[in-house]
Amino acid sequence: MNVEREPVLILGCGGFLGSHLVEALLSRKHHSVIGVDLFSKKISHLLDNPAFEYHESDLTQPSSIDDLMRRTSTVINMAAICNPAVYNTRPLDVIDINFTHVVPIVRACADTGKRLVHFSTCEVYGKTLAGFAPVGSEFREDAHNVVLSEDTSPLILGPVHRQRWTYSCAKQLLERVIYAEGKSHALAFTIVRPFNVIGSRMDYIPGVDGEGIPRVIPSFMKALLFGEPLTLVDGGRNRRSFIYVDDFTDAVLRILNMPDKSNGQIFNVGSAKSETTIAELAHTMRDIFSNLTGRTSKSDIINVSSEQFYGEGYDDCDRRVPDISKAAELLDWFPTTSLRELLNKTIAWYIAEYGDRRS
Ligand code: UGA
Repeated sequence: MNVEREPVLILGCGGFLGSHLVEALLSRKHHSVIGVDLFSKKISHLLDNPAFEYHESDLTQPSSIDDLMRRTSTVINMAAICNPAVYNTRPLDVIDINFTHVVPIVRACADTGKRLVHFSTCEVYGKTLAGFAPVGSEFREDAHNVVLSEDTSPLILGPVHRQRWTYSCAKQLLERVIYAEGKSHALAFTIVRPFNVIGSRMDYIPGVDGEGIPRVIPSFMKALLFGEPLTLVDGGRNRRSFIYVDDFTDAVLRILNMPDKSNGQIFNVGSAKSETTIAELAHTMRDIFSNLTGRTSKSDIINVSSEQFYGEGYDDCDRRVPDISKAAELLDWFPTTSLRELLNKTIAWYIAEYGDRRS
């Protein structure tokens, strides 16, 4: 029996996370997807799918988005600039794309009774102050804002001249608009806070299919593929909890399919068990790369200051660990991929996609 697919509108469907969500929705056959993005390279393999309708556009044309919204009851917003290298170098674009251009869409969802699933960020928790105790050790008593819970943790930012926080601030204010629309005008919403999702199709490899500084995994992959040094910003002392994109997408599908459990909620989607320092990450990735290619990597691991690497106005969070008890309880969701496994899969994809370019 052919069950009719329910259409969803995805804004920003062509990015890393969007490409995985569209793929998952089309393969499960419960939904058709109307997608909007400026770029379609990461979804080129899906464009011929009859259940996918792609529109090349940005979010600055609310009237054309309104037309598409009329055909769905659910709007998923994944459009964002989410690369730390531009937070302090293109702050106004970061504010517009993550806040200004999205507000009319949030309002339209509230006015027309659409459900909104909005992708925010773990960066809303802001400037954590964990100190530098080793991974796996107890949290320091004076540390704050480290194990991050959706409904109790404070959201703390650095000073205005530290423009890294433009992104966090824009994303946080948008969350507050969405929440207020929920309270004031009964907007049905869910906010997702991704914690360092990794997998295939992340960002780009500089000099091959993009220019600039991508996030840490593609940065290290560029170095490994070309036999160049891996660069540790401020010694790689900061920590991140990484989650595999398939685990992440599984949580998002549960959110979409369980509106009774997820409407009105904010969810951390991350994996506390996959925490590592960036320095350890560099060593682990170099080992895995050598194993997968069968050739010892000659890439050195070097240090650089954050100011040299990112320029003036950069700042960082030293440690952020997601509390995922809410997603576990309401969605029965747990990430299952270990750090080693997710790095193996991701590095193997980069090697297959870009080739080992060492001479
Ligand atoms: C970014 C975004 O700001 C978040 O919105 C997003 O949720 C998150 O990525 C993500 O990937 O999900 P951040 O964790 O700072 O946040 O992103 P990365 O650029 O991947 O940096 C992670 C750490 O590695 C930082 O401490 C950075 O300074 C360091 N790094 C980065 C290096 O040491 N070397 C590099 O070559 C690149």
